Amino acid sequence: MMIESSLINEPIPRHIAIIMDGNGRWAQARGISRNEGHKKGLDALRSVVRSANDLGVRWLTLYAFSLENWSRPKLEVASLMGLLERYLELEIEEVMEKGIQLRSIGRPDRLPSRIRKKVDDAIERTRNNSNMTLVFALSYGGRSEIVDATRKLLRDAELGKIDPERIDEKTFAAYLYDPEVPDPDLLIRTGAELRVSNFLLWQIAYTEIYSTGVMWPDFGGSELMDAVRDYQSRERRFGLTGEQVRGTRNGGG
Ligand code: IPE
Ligand code: IPE
Ligand code: MG
Repeated sequence: MMIESSLINEPIPRHIAIIMDGNGRWAQARGISRNEGHKKGLDALRSVVRSANDLGVRWLTLYAFSLENWSRPKLEVASLMGLLERYLELEIEEVMEKGIQLRSIGRPDRLPSRIRKKVDDAIERTRNNSNMTLVFALSYGGRSEIVDATRKLLRDAELGKIDPERIDEKTFAAYLYDPEVPDPDLLIRTGAELRVSNFLLWQIAYTEIYSTGVMWPDFGGSELMDAVRDYQSRERRFGLTGEQVRGTRNGGG
């Protein structure tokens, strides 16, 4: 992939999260099955992982399967699980070669045990890799993540390990599925929808959002660069005034 120098001269988002949407509509528009769309979606996934790694992105979180997606037709669910399995089988060598670390967030108990084992094996095999970290949100729901965190937190409070009076945002965040993953800088949604669909609710408090009409199977390195360029043109103010933010950047206060 050719990366323009103008892109590199500005900060590259450290963590990009992607809602990979539009496989079904992409297929329908071509008169082929939704499953064919998902297959094409897997190709897009592979190319975006490569491009993000080339760009120097440190963390990439991909929304691969939501808790709500379990309610899709059985055959579609099975085909998505099959594709995930295929990804883990086909890509693990390249992932190792590129030094990419795999992780996952979500409720694994609902995954077929065969898939769960493959995911666990891949996580184990790549655990010492130190280039980009690729996080799969799998059987994932943002509200469930907050509920699961609360449950663990309350258990620790019961055990006296934590004082309820001293719980702050940092304490709470330590109970999320993977507290080592930083908040995303950029959230990309393909497939034209303007909604969050229960993704990373806690973590996207100050994330820059980019939505594109491109369907996921058509998304690749050049579309990723468009999103990064758009991100680079923004001013992240975090509640401050523009003057404050620009002042800080020049060393002032
Ligand atoms: C995204 O594409 C893939 C998953 C949700 C797993 P969709 O299957 O949601 O595609 P559309 O939104 O129906 O086009
Ligand atoms: C979000 O897409 C979930 C994933 C991309 C895995 P959906 O297609 O499930 O979202 P909705 O139903 O349009 O909100
Ligand atoms: Mg969809």
